[in-house]
Amino acid sequence: MKIVVFSGAGMSAESGISTFRDANGLWANHRIEDVATPEAWLKDSEKVQQFYNLRRKQILESSPNEAHFLIKEMEKLGDVTVITQNIDDLHERAGSIDVVHLHGNIRESKSSGPNQEAHYYPIDGWEIKMGDKCVEGYQLRPHVVWFGESVPNLEVAADLISKAAVLIVIGTSLQVYPAAGLIHAAPLNCTKFLIDPNASNLHVPSDFIVLSESASEGMLQCLGLLKEKSGPQ
Ligand SMILES: NC(=O)c1ccc[n+]([C@@H]2O[C@H](COP(=O)([O-])OP(=O)(O)OC[C@H]3O[C@@H](n4cnc5c(N)ncnc54)[C@H](O)[C@@H]3O)[C@@H](O)[C@H]2O)c1
Repeated sequence: MKIVVFSGAGMSAESGISTFRDANGLWANHRIEDVATPEAWLKDSEKVQQFYNLRRKQILESSPNEAHFLIKEMEKLGDVTVITQNIDDLHERAGSIDVVHLHGNIRESKSSGPNQEAHYYPIDGWEIKMGDKCVEGYQLRPHVVWFGESVPNLEVAADLISKAAVLIVIGTSLQVYPAAGLIHAAPLNCTKFLIDPNASNLHVPSDFIVLSESASEGMLQCLGLLKEKSGPQ
């Protein structure tokens, strides 16, 4: 059984990592244009670097939550791929084997020159320093997809979702495109779940099973329903 999990910032909320749009979101104190666009990098790369260095530090100090571990546990039920909009690595640290990052991975850096997707470099610790260079001599920047940049893994993700028997959409406001449009790639006969405490305000097709719960409680319920469906183990 092909199971695809499509996660967003709410997935990591119980790990203490702020979401994007919630009232207390870390990002409430920062304008997107100042820290998460190519223009911001051109204008003040030191400020952008510092912003992501601090995000990386916070992520390193955080741990996967129960929902991340329940997704790992689901590998007993089928072939699980996680497609995440998150730039943190908490799915990997919970043990998930197959994780596709749509918006990059903050634990890696890449060139700020013309060949940005040629190579991703693991970052030792929490900091990319100004003056750290790629092999071609360009300043290293975080491996994250900024607003206005293309999403290299979009087609890979659409293909995976189009083959899913089960799709679990969890902790995303479905407002950041093109990623949010991916849920429509799921086949008609796919069993679809939406897990989000704010689910009543989100727009998904009517065949979704909606669980208005936190990630951990929602995953617990979802896992129970899937175990029932797949019969005795
Ligand atoms: N952890 C991270 O890596 C991180 C954090 C913030 C933002 N981002 C980036 O910002 C973009 C934001 O879009 P988004 O849709 O992922 O986030 P979003 O902030 O727009 O939406 C978060 C969603 O999570 C829900 N939520 C809040 N608490 C929850 C909980 N305990 N359990 C489950 N859901 C909960 C909210 O109701 C909301 O619908 C993403 O593309 C992502 O790359 C990443």
